[in-house]
Amino acid sequence: MRVIITGGAGFIGSHIADTYLAAGHDVCVVDSLWAHGGGRRDNIAQRASFLHVDIRDASLERVFRDFNPDVVSHHAAQHSVAISTRDPQLDAQVNVMGLINVLDNCVKANVKKVVFASSGATFGEPEKLPVNEETPQHPASPYAITKMVAEHYLRFYKAQHGLDFTALRYGNVFGPRQDPNGEAGVISIFIGRFLAKQGITIHSDGEQTRDYVYVGDVASANLAALTRGSGSCYCIGTGRRTSVNEIYRALVEVTGNDVPVTYGEKRAGDVRDAQFDSTLAQRELEWSVETPLVEGMRKTVDYFRARMPA
Ligand SMILES: NC(=O)c1ccc[n+]([C@@H]2O[C@H](COP(=O)([O-])OP(=O)(O)OC[C@H]3O[C@@H](n4cnc5c(N)ncnc54)[C@H](O)[C@@H]3O)[C@@H](O)[C@H]2O)c1
Repeated sequence: MRVIITGGAGFIGSHIADTYLAAGHDVCVVDSLWAHGGGRRDNIAQRASFLHVDIRDASLERVFRDFNPDVVSHHAAQHSVAISTRDPQLDAQVNVMGLINVLDNCVKANVKKVVFASSGATFGEPEKLPVNEETPQHPASPYAITKMVAEHYLRFYKAQHGLDFTALRYGNVFGPRQDPNGEAGVISIFIGRFLAKQGITIHSDGEQTRDYVYVGDVASANLAALTRGSGSCYCIGTGRRTSVNEIYRALVEVTGNDVPVTYGEKRAGDVRDAQFDSTLAQRELEWSVETPLVEGMRKTVDYFRARMPA
Protein backbone atom coordinates (compact mmCIF):
# COMPACT_ATOMS: atom_id res chain seq x y z
CA MET A 1 0.00 0.00 0.00
CA ARG A 2 0.95 3.64 -0.40
CA VAL A 3 0.75 5.39 2.98
CA ILE A 4 1.16 9.05 3.96
CA ILE A 5 2.19 9.36 7.61
CA THR A 6 1.56 12.84 9.01
CA GLY A 7 3.86 13.43 11.97
CA GLY A 8 6.09 10.66 10.61
CA ALA A 9 9.26 12.46 11.76
CA GLY A 10 8.03 12.31 15.36
CA PHE A 11 8.43 9.70 18.04
CA ILE A 12 5.50 7.34 17.31
CA GLY A 13 5.09 8.22 13.61
CA SER A 14 8.71 7.35 12.81
CA HIS A 15 8.33 3.87 14.35
CA ILE A 16 5.15 3.37 12.32
CA ALA A 17 7.08 4.39 9.19
CA ASP A 18 9.79 1.80 9.97
CA THR A 19 7.17 -0.91 10.55
CA TYR A 20 5.25 -0.10 7.36
CA LEU A 21 8.44 -0.04 5.28
CA ALA A 22 9.54 -3.39 6.76
CA ALA A 23 6.13 -4.83 5.76
CA GLY A 24 6.73 -3.71 2.15
CA HIS A 25 4.57 -0.57 2.03
CA ASP A 26 5.55 2.73 0.37
CA VAL A 27 5.75 5.57 2.87
CA CYS A 28 5.62 9.34 2.48
CA VAL A 29 6.24 11.36 5.66
CA VAL A 30 4.51 14.74 5.96
CA ASP A 31 5.82 16.75 8.90
CA SER A 32 6.37 20.42 9.75
CA LEU A 33 9.17 19.58 12.26
CA TRP A 34 7.32 21.78 14.74
CA ALA A 35 9.74 23.37 17.20
CA HIS A 36 7.82 22.13 20.27
CA GLY A 37 7.20 18.61 18.96
CA GLY A 38 9.39 15.52 18.91
CA GLY A 39 9.93 15.54 15.12
CA ARG A 40 13.47 15.25 13.80
CA ARG A 41 14.87 14.67 10.32
CA ASP A 42 17.16 11.89 11.54
CA ASN A 43 14.11 9.90 12.75
CA ILE A 44 12.98 9.51 9.14
CA ALA A 45 13.94 6.26 7.44
CA GLN A 46 15.97 6.72 4.25
CA ARG A 47 13.51 4.67 2.22
CA ALA A 48 10.62 7.01 3.09
CA SER A 49 10.01 10.16 1.11
CA PHE A 50 9.77 13.29 3.22
CA LEU A 51 7.82 16.50 2.66
CA HIS A 52 8.33 19.40 5.04
CA VAL A 53 4.71 20.55 5.04
CA ASP A 54 2.27 21.78 7.68
CA ILE A 55 -0.98 19.80 7.80
CA ARG A 56 -2.90 23.10 7.83
CA ASP A 57 -1.34 24.22 4.55
CA ALA A 58 -3.17 24.40 1.20
CA SER A 59 -0.16 22.69 -0.44
CA LEU A 60 -1.28 19.43 1.16
CA GLU A 61 -3.56 18.97 -1.86
CA ARG A 62 -0.56 18.68 -4.19
CA VAL A 63 1.17 16.29 -1.80
CA PHE A 64 -1.85 13.98 -1.86
CA ARG A 65 -2.25 14.26 -5.63
CA ASP A 66 1.41 13.47 -6.29
CA PHE A 67 1.80 10.58 -3.83
CA ASN A 68 -1.70 9.13 -4.38
CA PRO A 69 -2.00 7.32 -1.02
CA ASP A 70 -4.29 4.36 -0.27
CA VAL A 71 -4.14 5.07 3.47
CA VAL A 72 -3.27 8.09 5.61
CA SER A 73 -1.86 7.56 9.09
CA HIS A 74 -2.64 10.80 10.91
CA HIS A 75 -0.15 11.28 13.73
CA ALA A 76 0.78 14.98 13.36
CA ALA A 77 -0.56 16.92 16.31
CA GLN A 78 -0.03 19.55 18.90
CA HIS A 79 0.67 16.77 21.41
CA SER A 80 1.19 18.67 24.67
CA VAL A 81 -1.54 18.91 27.32
CA ALA A 82 0.31 21.86 28.91
CA ILE A 83 0.54 23.85 25.65
CA SER A 84 -3.12 23.10 24.90
CA THR A 85 -4.07 24.54 28.28
CA ARG A 86 -2.00 27.70 27.71
CA ASP A 87 -2.98 28.11 24.05
CA PRO A 88 -6.25 26.34 23.19
CA GLN A 89 -6.46 28.21 19.86
CA LEU A 90 -3.16 26.80 18.61
CA ASP A 91 -4.22 23.36 19.81
CA ALA A 92 -7.52 23.52 17.93
CA GLN A 93 -5.90 24.97 14.80
CA VAL A 94 -3.53 22.02 14.51
CA ASN A 95 -5.61 19.22 16.00
CA VAL A 96 -9.00 20.18 14.55
CA MET A 97 -8.44 22.45 11.53
CA GLY A 98 -5.35 20.48 10.52
CA LEU A 99 -7.32 17.24 10.80
CA ILE A 100 -10.14 18.64 8.65
CA ASN A 101 -7.62 19.70 5.99
CA VAL A 102 -6.21 16.15 6.02
CA LEU A 103 -9.69 14.60 5.80
CA ASP A 104 -10.82 16.91 2.96
CA ASN A 105 -7.72 15.99 1.01
CA CYS A 106 -8.34 12.30 1.71
CA VAL A 107 -11.78 12.67 0.13
CA LYS A 108 -10.41 14.56 -2.90
CA ALA A 109 -7.63 12.02 -3.44
CA ASN A 110 -9.92 8.97 -2.98
CA VAL A 111 -7.99 7.72 0.04
CA LYS A 112 -9.58 4.52 1.39
CA LYS A 113 -8.76 4.80 5.06
CA VAL A 114 -7.37 7.00 7.85
CA VAL A 115 -5.60 5.51 10.87
CA PHE A 116 -5.78 8.10 13.63
CA ALA A 117 -3.70 8.64 16.76
CA SER A 118 -6.32 9.25 19.43
CA SER A 119 -5.62 9.18 23.13
CA GLY A 120 -6.58 7.65 26.43
CA ALA A 121 -6.65 11.27 27.62
CA THR A 122 -10.15 11.48 26.07
CA PHE A 123 -11.45 9.50 29.09
CA GLY A 124 -10.35 12.12 31.65
CA GLU A 125 -10.74 10.80 35.20
CA PRO A 126 -12.88 7.67 34.67
CA GLU A 127 -15.18 6.29 37.35
CA LYS A 128 -13.62 2.86 37.18
CA LEU A 129 -10.57 1.17 35.77
CA PRO A 130 -9.60 -0.33 33.45
CA VAL A 131 -11.26 1.76 30.77
CA ASN A 132 -12.49 0.15 27.57
CA GLU A 133 -14.35 1.34 24.47
CA GLU A 134 -17.64 1.45 26.44
CA THR A 135 -16.27 3.89 29.02
CA PRO A 136 -17.73 7.41 28.64
CA GLN A 137 -15.22 10.04 27.51
CA HIS A 138 -14.90 13.11 29.74
CA PRO A 139 -11.87 14.94 28.34
CA ALA A 140 -10.32 17.32 30.88
CA SER A 141 -7.95 19.41 28.70
CA PRO A 142 -8.17 21.20 25.35
CA TYR A 143 -5.81 18.54 23.94
CA ALA A 144 -8.10 15.71 25.05
CA ILE A 145 -11.15 17.61 23.77
CA THR A 146 -9.60 17.92 20.29
CA LYS A 147 -8.74 14.20 20.22
CA MET A 148 -12.33 13.30 21.11
CA VAL A 149 -13.71 15.78 18.57
CA ALA A 150 -11.42 14.23 15.95
CA GLU A 151 -13.06 10.83 16.49
CA HIS A 152 -16.45 12.47 15.78
CA TYR A 153 -15.10 14.02 12.56
CA LEU A 154 -13.83 10.59 11.49
CA ARG A 155 -17.32 9.15 12.00
CA PHE A 156 -18.83 12.03 10.03
CA TYR A 157 -16.43 11.66 7.08
CA LYS A 158 -17.08 7.91 6.97
CA ALA A 159 -20.86 8.43 6.98
CA GLN A 160 -20.77 11.36 4.54
CA HIS A 161 -17.95 10.39 2.18
CA GLY A 162 -17.29 6.69 2.78
CA LEU A 163 -13.79 7.45 4.10
CA ASP A 164 -13.00 4.51 6.38
CA PHE A 165 -11.07 4.96 9.65
CA THR A 166 -9.60 3.25 12.67
CA ALA A 167 -8.81 5.36 15.75
CA LEU A 168 -6.30 4.06 18.28
CA ARG A 169 -6.56 5.47 21.80
CA TYR A 170 -3.05 5.08 23.14
CA GLY A 171 -2.02 4.75 26.76
CA ASN A 172 1.35 6.27 27.76
CA VAL A 173 3.62 5.35 24.87
CA PHE A 174 7.35 5.08 25.56
CA GLY A 175 10.48 3.96 23.74
CA PRO A 176 13.48 5.06 21.67
CA ARG A 177 13.28 8.54 20.05
CA GLN A 178 10.87 9.93 22.64
CA ASP A 179 11.99 13.43 23.54
CA PRO A 180 13.64 13.26 27.02
CA ASN A 181 13.51 17.04 27.40
CA GLY A 182 9.84 17.81 27.05
CA GLU A 183 6.86 16.78 29.12
CA ALA A 184 6.37 13.87 26.72
CA GLY A 185 6.87 10.83 28.87
CA VAL A 186 8.10 10.14 32.34
CA ILE A 187 10.17 7.13 31.23
CA SER A 188 12.26 9.03 28.65
CA ILE A 189 12.58 12.08 30.92
CA PHE A 190 13.80 9.89 33.80
CA ILE A 191 16.18 7.95 31.53
CA GLY A 192 17.75 11.25 30.39
CA ARG A 193 18.30 12.25 34.02
CA PHE A 194 19.51 8.79 35.13
CA LEU A 195 22.11 8.62 32.36
CA ALA A 196 23.29 12.16 33.15
CA LYS A 197 23.33 11.13 36.84
CA GLN A 198 21.01 14.04 37.71
CA GLY A 199 18.30 13.98 40.36
CA ILE A 200 14.66 13.59 39.42
CA THR A 201 11.47 15.21 40.64
CA ILE A 202 8.40 13.06 41.14
CA HIS A 203 5.16 15.01 41.16
CA SER A 204 2.80 14.05 43.98
CA ASP A 205 3.64 10.93 46.03
CA GLY A 206 4.71 8.79 43.07
CA GLU A 207 1.95 6.25 43.65
CA GLN A 208 -0.06 7.60 40.68
CA THR A 209 -0.22 4.94 37.96
CA ARG A 210 -0.18 4.82 34.15
CA ASP A 211 -0.49 2.13 31.50
CA TYR A 212 2.91 2.29 29.73
CA VAL A 213 2.90 0.72 26.28
CA TYR A 214 6.07 0.18 24.24
CA VAL A 215 6.24 2.08 20.93
CA GLY A 216 7.05 -1.09 18.94
CA ASP A 217 3.73 -2.56 20.11
CA VAL A 218 1.94 0.67 19.15
CA ALA A 219 3.51 0.43 15.68
CA SER A 220 2.25 -3.15 15.31
CA ALA A 221 -1.28 -2.00 16.24
CA ASN A 222 -0.94 0.53 13.42
CA LEU A 223 0.12 -2.23 11.04
CA ALA A 224 -2.95 -4.27 11.97
CA ALA A 225 -5.16 -1.19 11.53
CA LEU A 226 -4.19 -0.90 7.85
CA THR A 227 -6.55 -3.75 7.06
CA ARG A 228 -8.65 -4.30 10.21
CA GLY A 229 -10.85 -2.33 12.62
CA SER A 230 -13.08 -0.59 10.07
CA GLY A 231 -14.97 2.38 11.56
CA SER A 232 -13.94 1.66 15.16
CA CYS A 233 -11.95 3.09 18.05
CA TYR A 234 -9.67 0.87 20.15
CA CYS A 235 -7.88 1.20 23.48
CA ILE A 236 -4.19 0.40 23.02
CA GLY A 237 -2.53 -0.41 26.32
CA THR A 238 -1.07 -3.28 28.31
CA GLY A 239 -3.81 -3.67 30.93
CA ARG A 240 -1.18 -3.10 33.63
CA ARG A 241 -0.87 -0.16 36.01
CA THR A 242 2.61 0.94 36.97
CA SER A 243 3.36 3.66 39.51
CA VAL A 244 5.97 6.36 38.98
CA ASN A 245 7.82 4.97 42.02
CA GLU A 246 7.96 1.56 40.30
CA ILE A 247 9.37 3.20 37.16
CA TYR A 248 12.03 4.84 39.30
CA ARG A 249 12.99 1.55 40.98
CA ALA A 250 13.07 -0.31 37.64
CA LEU A 251 15.40 2.34 36.17
CA VAL A 252 17.79 1.96 39.11
CA GLU A 253 17.98 -1.74 38.10
CA VAL A 254 18.22 -1.20 34.35
CA THR A 255 20.72 1.70 34.33
CA GLY A 256 22.77 0.59 37.33
CA ASN A 257 22.64 4.23 38.52
CA ASP A 258 20.88 5.59 41.57
CA VAL A 259 19.86 9.25 41.50
CA PRO A 260 18.28 11.38 44.23
CA VAL A 261 14.52 11.87 44.17
CA THR A 262 12.59 14.95 45.23
CA TYR A 263 8.84 14.74 45.68
CA GLY A 264 7.01 17.84 44.37
CA GLU A 265 3.51 19.21 43.99
CA LYS A 266 0.86 17.31 42.01
CA ARG A 267 0.64 18.82 38.52
CA ALA A 268 -2.64 20.53 37.67
CA GLY A 269 -4.80 18.41 35.38
CA ASP A 270 -2.90 15.15 35.96
CA VAL A 271 -5.21 12.17 36.39
CA ARG A 272 -4.43 9.86 39.29
CA ASP A 273 -4.54 6.50 37.53
CA ALA A 274 -4.86 5.03 34.05
CA GLN A 275 -5.30 1.47 32.79
CA PHE A 276 -6.62 0.17 29.47
CA ASP A 277 -8.50 -2.98 28.65
CA SER A 278 -7.46 -3.85 25.07
CA THR A 279 -9.62 -6.98 24.71
CA LEU A 280 -11.44 -5.47 21.70
CA ALA A 281 -8.16 -4.69 19.93
CA GLN A 282 -6.96 -8.24 20.65
CA ARG A 283 -10.12 -9.67 19.12
CA GLU A 284 -10.73 -7.36 16.16
CA LEU A 285 -7.23 -6.12 15.27
CA GLU A 286 -5.64 -9.45 16.30
CA TRP A 287 -3.12 -7.33 18.17
CA SER A 288 -1.44 -7.99 21.48
CA VAL A 289 1.35 -6.55 23.56
CA GLU A 290 4.66 -8.30 22.93
CA THR A 291 7.12 -6.19 24.94
CA PRO A 292 7.18 -6.39 28.75
CA LEU A 293 7.78 -3.04 30.47
CA VAL A 294 11.32 -3.77 31.67
CA GLU A 295 12.39 -5.09 28.25
CA GLY A 296 11.04 -1.90 26.64
CA MET A 297 12.88 0.17 29.23
CA ARG A 298 16.13 -1.68 28.48
CA LYS A 299 15.75 -0.97 24.74
CA THR A 300 15.04 2.69 25.48
CA VAL A 301 18.03 3.01 27.84
CA ASP A 302 20.29 1.35 25.23
CA TYR A 303 19.07 3.82 22.60
CA PHE A 304 19.76 6.89 24.73
CA ARG A 305 23.05 5.51 26.05
CA ALA A 306 24.32 4.98 22.48
CA ARG A 307 23.64 8.67 21.79
CA MET A 308 25.30 10.11 24.86
CA PRO A 309 28.22 12.44 24.23
CA ALA A 310 31.48 10.59 24.84
N1 LIG B 1 3.23 9.83 23.13
C1 LIG B 1 2.11 9.38 23.69
O1 LIG B 1 2.14 8.76 24.77
C2 LIG B 1 0.78 9.58 22.99
C3 LIG B 1 -0.38 9.11 23.62
C4 LIG B 1 -1.60 9.28 22.97
C5 LIG B 1 -1.67 9.88 21.72
N2 LIG B 1 -0.53 10.34 21.15
C6 LIG B 1 -0.64 10.97 19.81
O2 LIG B 1 0.23 10.31 18.92
C7 LIG B 1 0.70 11.23 17.92
C8 LIG B 1 2.21 11.24 17.89
O3 LIG B 1 2.70 11.67 19.16
P1 LIG B 1 4.23 11.66 19.54
O4 LIG B 1 4.33 11.37 20.98
O5 LIG B 1 4.98 10.82 18.56
O6 LIG B 1 4.60 13.21 19.34
P2 LIG B 1 5.73 13.88 18.45
O7 LIG B 1 5.72 15.35 18.77
O8 LIG B 1 7.02 13.17 18.56
O9 LIG B 1 5.16 13.68 16.96
C9 LIG B 1 4.22 14.56 16.39
C10 LIG B 1 4.76 15.03 15.06
O10 LIG B 1 3.80 15.91 14.48
C11 LIG B 1 4.51 16.97 13.84
N3 LIG B 1 3.63 18.13 13.74
C12 LIG B 1 3.17 18.92 14.75
N4 LIG B 1 2.39 19.89 14.24
C13 LIG B 1 2.36 19.71 12.89
C14 LIG B 1 1.74 20.39 11.82
N5 LIG B 1 0.98 21.47 12.05
N6 LIG B 1 1.92 19.94 10.56
C15 LIG B 1 2.71 18.86 10.32
N7 LIG B 1 3.34 18.18 11.30
C16 LIG B 1 3.16 18.60 12.58
C17 LIG B 1 5.71 17.24 14.74
O11 LIG B 1 6.75 17.91 14.05
C18 LIG B 1 6.08 15.83 15.17
O12 LIG B 1 7.03 15.26 14.29
C19 LIG B 1 0.09 12.59 18.28
O13 LIG B 1 -1.10 12.75 17.54
C20 LIG B 1 -0.23 12.44 19.76
O14 LIG B 1 -1.27 13.31 20.15
C21 LIG B 1 0.69 10.22 21.74
